Amino acid sequence: MNPDTPLQLLGGLTAREFLRDYWQKKPLLIRQAIPGFESPISPDELAGLSLEEEVESRLVLEHGERPWELRRGPFAEDTYQNLPERDWTLLVQAVDQFVPDVAELLEQFRFLPSWRIDDVMISFAAPGGGVGPHFDNYDVFLLQGQGRRNWKVGQMCDAESALLPHADLRILADFQQTDEWVLEPGDMLYLPPRLAHFGIAEDDCMTYSVGFRAPSAAEVLTHFTDFLAQFLPDEERYSDAGAAPVSDPHEIQRDALDRLKALLSEHMSDERLLLTWFGQFMTEPRYPELVAGTEVEEDDLLGAIEDGAVLIRNASARLAWSEVDVGLVLFASGQSRLLPANLRDLLKLICAAEALHLENLGQWLADDEGRKLLLELVKQGSLEFADE
Ligand code: SIN
Ligand code: CO
Repeated sequence: MNPDTPLQLLGGLTAREFLRDYWQKKPLLIRQAIPGFESPISPDELAGLSLEEEVESRLVLEHGERPWELRRGPFAEDTYQNLPERDWTLLVQAVDQFVPDVAELLEQFRFLPSWRIDDVMISFAAPGGGVGPHFDNYDVFLLQGQGRRNWKVGQMCDAESALLPHADLRILADFQQTDEWVLEPGDMLYLPPRLAHFGIAEDDCMTYSVGFRAPSAAEVLTHFTDFLAQFLPDEERYSDAGAAPVSDPHEIQRDALDRLKALLSEHMSDERLLLTWFGQFMTEPRYPELVAGTEVEEDDLLGAIEDGAVLIRNASARLAWSEVDVGLVLFASGQSRLLPANLRDLLKLICAAEALHLENLGQWLADDEGRKLLLELVKQGSLEFADE
């Protein structure tokens, strides 16, 4: 993708301009980001998803049992018969994993790394509905899918920002509005992390939120050090070989800190392990139980492809690849695999192609390593047969 091509999705900005001026910095309203956008799923279908066991959903009622009531799905069918006319929102997480037409929307966001994208959440709000003024810790694109929604944006927030006393909802006690827009279907609003925002439905309204993943610094440190620790033998310890005599036996001297810092930086600067951890972490599926492998033999897999079978990415799987000094690494749903450099085009194909079949796999089916890789990805569940 050429970073200097103006994109309709970004209101005519190029990816380079958007990244330079807005991404992670300030909001951007884009009128008709997707001209004539029609939601590929209806409010009834969204409500239907919220009845399913494996789907993560929430209802927020502004005047429920108490102000701002949160209910968690899965819901029962009669839930929707007993809701008031106004002032409630249904939010369904990761709809892209359950509705292929919603996943397709993500193709428009390929100007950003795919491993940064978390999911497409879809909300349906009755008139007046909204989840209250709040901030999120991640970037989000809010695409209007149906009806009209008033969006207000406010101040930059942080962990110190005062919240209303509510166990489950993070509603800001103080919202300082700076801007306001009404979005119609196809309009989109980009919000950087931590910017206060407040959406209120003007009528029956659907909003698509393309949300991003960014590990917190605390997660990076705890998860990476846990990962590193698996490779460190118990006998590797704090060592003070060559220490100078102490002037006071009770003092921890600078020299001890320097030794600790050397120990930490020796391990923390292992780039190969850092990449391995990061790739695994960023491709961890949101719902690992939905990435279930299949037992299959190499001959059967090859035979099926030769007979016209099509392999697609499991909608819950996540894929990314990277280069290392000794070859390539494929990250597939939380696992990593070191591969020879000549498989580069196959890795790119596996990560990017909508479907893998005889035509686009072509020569790779004759390559031992290539075949082995496809087989492993099917066994692991990241790839599956299209009609499964
Ligand atoms: C919504 O769609 O109602 C909420 C989206 C958000 O504010 O993050
Ligand atoms: Co939000």
